[in-house]
Amino acid sequence: MYDSTVVIGAQWGDEGKGKIVDFLAEKADVVVRFNGGNNAGHTIKANGETFKLHIIPSGVVRDKQVVIANGVVVDPKVLIDEIEMLRKMGYEPNLVLSANAHVIMHYHKIFDAKTDKTSKIGTTGRGIGPAYSDKAKRTEAIRMADFVGNAFDLRLSKILESKKHDLLRYGVITSAKNFDEYRQSLLGEYRKYADFIRPYVYDTTLIINQALDEGKNVLFEGAQGTLLDVDHGTYPYVTSSNTCAGGACTGAGVGPNRIAHVIGVTKAYTTRVGEGPFPTELKNDEGELLRKTGCEYGTTTGRPRRCGWLDLVILKYAKMVNGLTNLAITKLDVLSGLEKIKVCTSYEIGGKKTDLMPSSAEELENVKPVYLELDGWNKWSEQEATEIARRGIKALPEQAQAYLKFIESKSGVPISIVSIGAGRDETIIV
Ligand code: GDP
Ligand code: IMO
Ligand code: MG
Repeated sequence: MYDSTVVIGAQWGDEGKGKIVDFLAEKADVVVRFNGGNNAGHTIKANGETFKLHIIPSGVVRDKQVVIANGVVVDPKVLIDEIEMLRKMGYEPNLVLSANAHVIMHYHKIFDAKTDKTSKIGTTGRGIGPAYSDKAKRTEAIRMADFVGNAFDLRLSKILESKKHDLLRYGVITSAKNFDEYRQSLLGEYRKYADFIRPYVYDTTLIINQALDEGKNVLFEGAQGTLLDVDHGTYPYVTSSNTCAGGACTGAGVGPNRIAHVIGVTKAYTTRVGEGPFPTELKNDEGELLRKTGCEYGTTTGRPRRCGWLDLVILKYAKMVNGLTNLAITKLDVLSGLEKIKVCTSYEIGGKKTDLMPSSAEELENVKPVYLELDGWNKWSEQEATEIARRGIKALPEQAQAYLKFIESKSGVPISIVSIGAGRDETIIV
């Protein structure tokens, strides 16, 4: 059995993956990002500081070897800024970056912002969709190997020629003269980035597989969440990569038989940023209370997150498509102090009850959530949280334990971690 764990979001992202990965990274040798790009925002509170990471794996805070694998799209400027931010904080990333990862270029970000005005997915505007589109298209993409290689100038010039129509259409350029200026300025800017990044570029597939062969502990850090997966999420209101556990295999180049554990991170309630169906959304004071108490504002864009009750239909779906072996429940503390807590156990569709997830976003938009009401529990202080974490699950209020048992029994997935605060030591191992 290999010593490997995939950590993925079981909802619509922002479940607290960063916190859980940082927690688990204590025992890891290598931490790998395998999908998405800097649309992700992973927050870690540790060593008296708050880290907001967008592209570098969370294992960096524990000084582990961190890998950005082939499935990731990388904005070079963001990567450089993040490396420099970490250096200023006293951390030198032990980082390798896949030669096969794709580069997010300036025009991808412009295209993203412009097309989202009409497609209304509510993207993060980081150029993710256009960069993955170029990857799938094959003729206009730039991989890290191209980017740091000798033929970059020629390749970029050719790509810009074939993108000329879109550059004009989206107002990136306005004329032939302007086209040449744009080409020159991109070349100048991106050559500098390439010089900075070149020493980090490797064959990461080999590095990860060798680490597994040597019995090292490898942690795969998912970005986004199950319902944002381009194949298995609420399409078209999704991101452009495979966010599910299988994405770790394709996005890092490891066989499925090398994955030992799959941990699904889920909040004790639900949030979503951007557009798309969200059956348990609370568009009232209760939703506002969850947003306030849980500080539910996007790590990447600062947008207020939509908030609602926990949805067990979704969790069961996440179990199925990811093969979840364990759950990590986060933000249990945010529910403290509520008299009653609702949990969605099934949907009503056309007068019929089901606990199966509909396969289309349109259908999901029209379901009526069926709730069960459970008793709430009293708030605990930050100091008490550390003490509870130290003493274990039995130290939680009885009703909180009952809530967790309910989630476990209904989802059929054992809970292995419970997070009751943003800090590292506010974590219970079950
Ligand atoms: P990620 O994208 O899945 O890594 O999650 P984000 O970092 O975007 O959002 C999760 C937020 O919740 C961050 O601000 C975390 O610091 C915070 N957080 C994580 N776990 C807990 C918890 O158990 N309780 C509370 N109150 N905050 C938490
Ligand atoms: P982490 O890793 C929450 C959402 C966007 C939008 C949709 C498509 O922090 O959990 P994109 O820019 O990817 O084309 O946007 O996906 N989205 C996220 N929502 N957490 C994320 O990442 C997200 N990354 C993308 O809000 O609805
Ligand atoms: Mg996030």
